Amino acid sequence: MPAFRLILKYLVVFPMSFTFIISCSDRQVIFPPVMDAKTRGYCGSCHMAFQPSMLPARSWQLLMDGLDDHFDEKVVLKPSLEKAIRQYHIINAADSPTAGLAGQTALMGLRPSKNPLRITDTPYFKQEHNFLENKILDEWVGSATNCPVCHVGAWVGDYSV
Ligand code: HEC
Ligand code: HEC
Repeated sequence: MPAFRLILKYLVVFPMSFTFIISCSDRQVIFPPVMDAKTRGYCGSCHMAFQPSMLPARSWQLLMDGLDDHFDEKVVLKPSLEKAIRQYHIINAADSPTAGLAGQTALMGLRPSKNPLRITDTPYFKQEHNFLENKILDEWVGSATNCPVCHVGAWVGDYSV
């Protein structure tokens, strides 16, 4: 019954896929939460443990290479721990296959020649927060790095709240 198939295709399947595309683009991006206990424990002791899918692997490599002088703090980790935490960040980095849409979103507008050490230095972060003036940030939260002050969903990677 080719006529029936045609009707099915144009009246049912096409509109359905269209609605699907619209509802997908409306959905908020979730940055996969940090599931590694070592990373949560050690990288979450001074600030929240940031989701690896917010920076590319090359940034995490640089950051892990520079723990001796980590934003004026010295972060000391046993070599085995350093290796495990580094690996967790690389495997789940924004440009890894596991990061999916969240990673692609985080990398929006970031030139391949740039290796930001801060999420707050990425074009995506700046675009999402361009309504916040530095003065307001300083007065309200001390530093934009303090995501959970404004985002109750920060720990679970949901920054829409
Ligand atoms: C001894 C405390 C301490 C530990 C432990 C620590 N950090 Fe930090 N981290 C800092 C400080 C201080 C800053 C800068 C905060 C600011 O500018 O407000 C920072 C900033 C960052 C930033 C930049 C955030 C942004 O976008 O502004 C990243 C990314 C980061 N840390 C990752 C890590 C990772 C990964 C680990 C674990 C290997 C880690 N940190 C462990 C103290 C620490
Ligand atoms: C001073 C408050 C404040 C701080 C601090 C802050 N944000 Fe935001 N952020 C906002 C507001 C307000 C929005 C817009 C919310 C919206 O569009 O629903 C936003 C939007 C976002 C979005 C886009 C969310 C979406 O679903 O469209 C992301 C991702 C994000 N922030 C990540 C971060 C990260 C990561 C940090 C910490 C490094 C951070 N924010 C720190 C206030 C803040």
